[in-house]
Amino acid sequence: MNGTKGINRRSAFFQLLGTTLGLGVATHSVAQAEQFWTGNGSSSTLVAFLSRSGNTRMIAETLARQMSADLFEIRTSEPYPDDYQAHVRLARQQQETGELPALSGGVPGLEGYQSVVLAFPVWGQDIPAPVRSFLAGRDMGNRNLFPCITHGGYGPGRSLETLGQLVPDAQIKAAFIKQCDSERETLGLLADWTATVMPS
Ligand SMILES: Cc1cc2nc3c(=O)[nH]c(=O)nc-3n(C[C@H](O)[C@H](O)[C@H](O)COP(=O)(O)O)c2cc1C
Repeated sequence: MNGTKGINRRSAFFQLLGTTLGLGVATHSVAQAEQFWTGNGSSSTLVAFLSRSGNTRMIAETLARQMSADLFEIRTSEPYPDDYQAHVRLARQQQETGELPALSGGVPGLEGYQSVVLAFPVWGQDIPAPVRSFLAGRDMGNRNLFPCITHGGYGPGRSLETLGQLVPDAQIKAAFIKQCDSERETLGLLADWTATVMPS
């Protein structure tokens, strides 16, 4: 499954992408703003993640470091709004229409990877639309898929069922599921605080 050909193809992809982005291939850090992936193309594990407010990013980066895995951030061509409520509205609309937003950053092929860690936050009780885009049309046959799911207090919702439907050929392992900070809650507390100490 993880043959040399696959690795070479992936290395070529990374070389090409690194050249396109003007980045060093093996030495870059995920902290660099415009970076979508790290790795030297020799790992058999990919950690792919989506994150808005950082919870899932921290988990994904930790795993990638621990596993010496390649790391890929799922980003949409059209960035989501910074404003939380506007983001929620757009995400809801995409969920209702089934829209698969276009991704940017040179989405890696999976042929050289034996295992994929897929880390994402729950949006609307389900898998976020960009993660659906990432999985769309993927051949996950006999690949191990390790879901890492963060949520703001309502649990994973339908995300695991949806995952099984999206990639029925993957070997889906037991998920890591963690309640994390909720941006909505933090924004509410912040609004209360500012209204108290900085009344207009
Ligand atoms: C658009 C949107 C929808 C969300 N929907 C849910 C939800 O249905 N259930 C839940 O528990 N948390 C929900 N959350 C909260 C996130 O899942 C949670 O805070 C997650 O840890 C955020 O991860 P991140 O910091 O990597 O973006 C939602 C957040 C956003 C931005």
